[in-house]
Amino acid sequence: MRLAVIGCGYVGLVSGACFADFGHVVTCVDKDEAKVAALKRGEIPIFEPGLDDLVAANVRGQRLFFSQDIGEAVRGAEVVFIAVGTPSRRGDGHADLSFVYSAAREIAAALDGFTVVVTKSTVPVGAGDEVERIIAESRPDADFVVVSNPEFLREGAAISDFKRPDRIVVGTTDERARAVMSEIYRPLNLNQPPLFFVDRRTSELVKYAANAFLATKITFINEIADLCEKVGANVQDVARGIGMDNRIGSKFLHAGPGYGGSCFPKDTLALVKTGQDADSPLRIIETVAAVNEQRKRGMAKKVIAACGGSVRGKTIALLGLAFKPNTDDMRDAPSLAIVTALEDAGAKVRAHDPAGMDQARAQLPDVTLCADPYECARGAEALVIVTEWDAFRALDFKRLAELMASPSIVDLRNVYRPEDVRRRGFRYVGVGTS
Ligand SMILES: NC(=O)c1ccc[n+]([C@@H]2O[C@H](COP(=O)([O-])OP(=O)(O)OC[C@H]3O[C@@H](n4cnc5c(N)ncnc54)[C@H](O)[C@@H]3O)[C@@H](O)[C@H]2O)c1
Repeated sequence: MRLAVIGCGYVGLVSGACFADFGHVVTCVDKDEAKVAALKRGEIPIFEPGLDDLVAANVRGQRLFFSQDIGEAVRGAEVVFIAVGTPSRRGDGHADLSFVYSAAREIAAALDGFTVVVTKSTVPVGAGDEVERIIAESRPDADFVVVSNPEFLREGAAISDFKRPDRIVVGTTDERARAVMSEIYRPLNLNQPPLFFVDRRTSELVKYAANAFLATKITFINEIADLCEKVGANVQDVARGIGMDNRIGSKFLHAGPGYGGSCFPKDTLALVKTGQDADSPLRIIETVAAVNEQRKRGMAKKVIAACGGSVRGKTIALLGLAFKPNTDDMRDAPSLAIVTALEDAGAKVRAHDPAGMDQARAQLPDVTLCADPYECARGAEALVIVTEWDAFRALDFKRLAELMASPSIVDLRNVYRPEDVRRRGFRYVGVGTS
């Protein structure tokens, strides 16, 4: 099949490359000239494991193309995926749908023949109706169906998530669109693709409900971690103890500095807004969002306490800036709030991240970015593990002790066993442990 994917970000580029790998002919479009030029030169603008090889192989196979021209890509495509950003709208927390609607207008102008227009971007309930209205209004003659097909991939594991999904949710009641969507995903699993067909509004809500539920799980265990610290219990054992119950499950029960990233913060806020607008408030999610927001800055207090109550004039070293390992994505990363709070308290901050430093540079102008963990630790009063990259799991403590002003680890991801670190002469503070 011939596909067009609008938006070459984390979702559009991965989806486009994977669809091409299934054998479809895909044109990925972006309005960002520099991004398209880089892709045409064979450079991948984001850090995502395995994506460079996947893109290169499919470009070589002449199944994957890049363009700035939506019209050219949409004409002749049987399916057009919208994978543009839907950030929080400044001021009110609603999802900003301006990129989606502007893409819809551009798509409308180029439609020819029966076309399925798919919103892969995360959009609030009813956005598909608006996309349909926009296209129908500007092209009353067009033969098209608007389908919702939210994406559930995780950055850092995006390709395997895309190719081996737990489910593919498709929101449409149109039989022609249903056949097209089944055909697109058919190569995924010849026997039984995990396609789940629902109506469009339900599909839109499935995505938000899934993210809100996962954010709730994280926030729940984070609050239990705080309680563990107060009463002398161990949150990792509590998490294991409840996670072994199949009704609860063990995933997303890792206590830490609060969720961040390009999805959970904005999607929980947008869902809260949808609930308020529909006179059906989602109080649990409202609380989750508020608790999580406070938590990120609260982590700086943990660091300050570990440094004896003040960090004024002291150097603090942060390991990990991206919101999670194996990505360079800094959007709403907990590190941003932690750095700001530490700088507000008078600390000098040094940091290292294996992939996120280019993106961090613009957002953290006063932070000294270092080439490796040991350079980062030089002169520090505390070494704070913010993101659990594999590269931080087996640090050379002897070397760290020689470099640091005082041997102290604040482990916001519980990467290390407290007794192991203390045995090496370090002070150790974890999350939800004593
Ligand atoms: N990042 C994730 O892990 C993830 C996972 C699931 C769902 N989502 C959702 O997918 C959507 C995209 O997220 P992302 O992280 O890939 O965003 P992104 O910001 O990385 O990429 C969006 C791209 O769209 C381009 N764009 C915007 N308007 C355009 C237009 N009119 N024409 C052509 N290109 C245009 C931008 O230049 C940008 O390159 C969002 O709704 C997000 O919530 C993201």
